[in-house]
Amino acid sequence: MKGEELPITARRRLIFRFVQLLATGGLAAMIFKFIRGGRAGDLEICFKRKPVKDEVIFNEGVYLVGLENGVSAFSSRCPHLGCRLTYDSGTSGFQCPCHGSRFTREGRRLSGPAPGDMISLELFPKDDETGFLMVRLPVS
Ligand code: FES
Repeated sequence: MKGEELPITARRRLIFRFVQLLATGGLAAMIFKFIRGGRAGDLEICFKRKPVKDEVIFNEGVYLVGLENGVSAFSSRCPHLGCRLTYDSGTSGFQCPCHGSRFTREGRRLSGPAPGDMISLELFPKDDETGFLMVRLPVS
């Protein structure tokens, strides 16, 4: 028996194969993201359509805003201390419930303690016909 390897049981083989598949899948996902230009860890938020002019769509921490000259995307996190901004259709702008910063629909700071404009995000068209869009939200 000395010098001989113990036979790997079917259960061990199955566990090993499962871990191998997880590792391979994770590596493949990282390579796929790298090829597409994203950083590992970025969240990809998808929108099924573009907003029309003056429309605001919210999904998973991202506002898509239909503007005169296209569509802009903004993080819903306030640039002051990170509270979630809300959109007020009455004033057509964003406001922060925590300390009162206010922003235009274009994301420009109007008032309050926020040090600057809303955090602008890059949009990636996925399908020109349907208007399907994706936004990468950096995870910090
Ligand atoms: Fe928004 Fe302070 S967190 S104004």
